[in-house]
Amino acid sequence: MQSYITEVKESSLLYGNTHVLWIDNPTEIPMIPGQFLMVYIGDSHTQLLGRPLSIHRLRDNGQECALLFEVIGQGTHWLSQRNTGEKVRFVGPLGNGYKIEPNTQRALLVGGGIGCAPLIWLADNLSAQEKDVTLLLGARTKNQIFPPALVPPNVEIVATTEDGSFGQKGLITEPFKDLLSWSDQVFSCGPRPMFEALYGLLLETGSSKSMQILMEEHMACGFGICYSCAVFPRKGGVKLICNDGPMFDIREIYA
Ligand SMILES: Cc1cc2nc3c(=O)[nH]c(=O)nc-3n(C[C@H](O)[C@H](O)[C@H](O)COP(=O)(O)OP(=O)(O)OC[C@H]3O[C@@H](n4cnc5c(N)ncnc54)[C@H](O)[C@@H]3O)c2cc1C
Ligand code: FES
Repeated sequence: MQSYITEVKESSLLYGNTHVLWIDNPTEIPMIPGQFLMVYIGDSHTQLLGRPLSIHRLRDNGQECALLFEVIGQGTHWLSQRNTGEKVRFVGPLGNGYKIEPNTQRALLVGGGIGCAPLIWLADNLSAQEKDVTLLLGARTKNQIFPPALVPPNVEIVATTEDGSFGQKGLITEPFKDLLSWSDQVFSCGPRPMFEALYGLLLETGSSKSMQILMEEHMACGFGICYSCAVFPRKGGVKLICNDGPMFDIREIYA
């Protein structure tokens, strides 16, 4: 694990209050969808703590990588103000990332809100391997939905919004129920209530499908020292999201 100071290549407000930031990728380590970077912000008193952000996409043979983030507080606001040529420091890549099982041909990707960030790159990879990919994008309203035009054309997209302003009206769990039996493997990222609902549906349908989730928690260090990212599986014990995850099989946490 190493710290890098890198250059901003492109920064834009992509939709709603969600920014995309392309940075030079100086790491020599191959990155896996689902891994994250601890990104350090430049303001004096807040610069000690990193902000964990998923790797959203790669381009130019991996020479640049993107972060997709909602502006919610000081750190993400600072990042959204970076211009081309400015410097940003990060540590990474961190965490385990998604694991595509060798026999998977039909992949169901379930993204709640900004949880779509790592799934877009996973969709890029799966579709490049000629897998059949369906991406579910769920949000409260239209301006929280990742632009479908920026997803590879061979990826099937089903969008849901709670207010019906885009796609189907309702929750992402509805199309999930319909598509679960179609899929060989499920990959998800989003808020915890969504994971609880997805796990409930696995139980309801008696499905033994593999479902990998990316979990989020506040992180102070990002590499196993501070325990701020501890999560407590229902069957007992403790897992660190930064070191043991952020990808877990849903049953490891909720069974
Ligand atoms: C492994 C991982 C990957 C992530 N990937 C992304 C991503 O790709 N895009 C993205 O937009 N966000 C992502 N997040 C969440 C992101 O880290 C937080 O949104 C960010 O740290 C907020 O920083 P801030 O300084 O802007 O806000 P702060 O001022 O630190 O916080 C603003 C608000 O957000 C809450 N908050 C802060 N961090 C988290 C968190 N980790 N989980 C839940 N609530 C939090 C705070 O309680 C507060 O209410 C990820 C988190 C983890 C753990
Ligand atoms: S963030 Fe410090 S132990 Fe996980």
